Amino acid sequence: MRKTHSTDPSWSDVTPKADFLNRRQIMAGAGAMALGSIAGPALASIDAKPSAYSTDAAPNTLKEITSYNNFYEFGWDKGDPVQYAGQMVTDPWSIEIDGLVDKPGTYPLDDILKPVTLEQRIYRFRCVEAWSMVIPWIGFELSALLDRVGVQPSAKYVAFQTLYRPEQMPGQRQGGIDWPYVEGLRLDEAMNPLTILATGLYDEEMPNQNGAPIRLVVPWKYGFKSIKSIVKISLTEKEPPTTWNRLQPREYGFYANVNPEVDHPRWSQATERRVGAGLFAGREPTLMFNGYGEEVASLYSGMNLAKFY
Ligand code: MTE
Repeated sequence: MRKTHSTDPSWSDVTPKADFLNRRQIMAGAGAMALGSIAGPALASIDAKPSAYSTDAAPNTLKEITSYNNFYEFGWDKGDPVQYAGQMVTDPWSIEIDGLVDKPGTYPLDDILKPVTLEQRIYRFRCVEAWSMVIPWIGFELSALLDRVGVQPSAKYVAFQTLYRPEQMPGQRQGGIDWPYVEGLRLDEAMNPLTILATGLYDEEMPNQNGAPIRLVVPWKYGFKSIKSIVKISLTEKEPPTTWNRLQPREYGFYANVNPEVDHPRWSQATERRVGAGLFAGREPTLMFNGYGEEVASLYSGMNLAKFY
C-alpha cells in the first residue's frame, strides 16, 4: 500500500463510519472552532457525509472489491491484479493535463488533492461482462479539477490515459491490447456531478489492483470506462480513441452507457450477477443507465442509444 503523503488527508478520518459519525456529533456539539483540536486539520478537507448521490444498497465487502478485478495490465484473470499489482510504484505520482486548457502542466498528485473535498460515494458498478458490485468510493468530482485547469470553449471531449510501465506491469509485456489503456468522455459527461476521480475505497487509499493512486469512476457506464491509474488527461475537440472500442468496435462503443435493452453481441445485458450474492441468489435486472437515469438521461435526449452504444 502506498505510503500516505504528508499533505494527504488522514484516511483513518474517513471511516470506520461509526467513528466518523461519532466525531461529527462531537464536533456539532463543540462547535466549529473545536474542529482543529478534535479531529486534526485533515478532517477539514473531507466531507464524508453520506452523499446524496450514494445508493442505499449494501456495499460489497472489501475482500470482494479487491480480489475480483479487471486490470489487464496485470493479466487477464480476475485474480491476477491482486497478485501482481503490488509491483506498481504509485508514489511519486503526477498527472499531465494538456490540450484545450488554460493551465496545461504536469501536476503532482499532492497538488491535485490539496484543495479538493473528498467525499464517500457509494455507487453501483456494472461491468460489461454482466457482473456488478456496490462500491464505497472516496473521491471528488472530476469537474473540480477541470475547472481549476480552465477548459477552453473549443474543448468537447476529455481523454484519459493509464500508466505505461511494462517493467512493473506484466500484461503490458504481452500483446492483445495496444498499450497504454485509454478512455474518453464527452465533456458534459465529464462535468456531470456523478463523475468522480477516486483515490480510495472504504477506509483505504486506493488499492493498487483497483487503480491506485487515482482512477475515474463513471457509474452509469460499463466498468471499462472507469479507467485506472491515470497519468494523463487531455481536453480535445475530437472524440478520442478508447481501448475496447479500438479492439472490438462492434462490441464496445464510445458511449458504453449501461443499457439493458442493447445486448452485447455475445450475451444479454438485461440482467446481472451481483458478485458475492451467493449461489442461489437470482440475477438482478439491469437498470437503464445503471439506475442513474434521473441524473444523466438528459445528456442523451434525442440520441439513438442502440446506434451510439
Ligand atoms: N483501467 C485500466 N487501466 N486497465 C483495465 O484493464 N479495466 C476496466 C476498468 N478500468 C481496466 C481499467 C474494466 S473492464 C473494469 S470492469 C473496471 O476497471 C474494473 O474495476 P475494479 O477492478 O476496480 O472493479
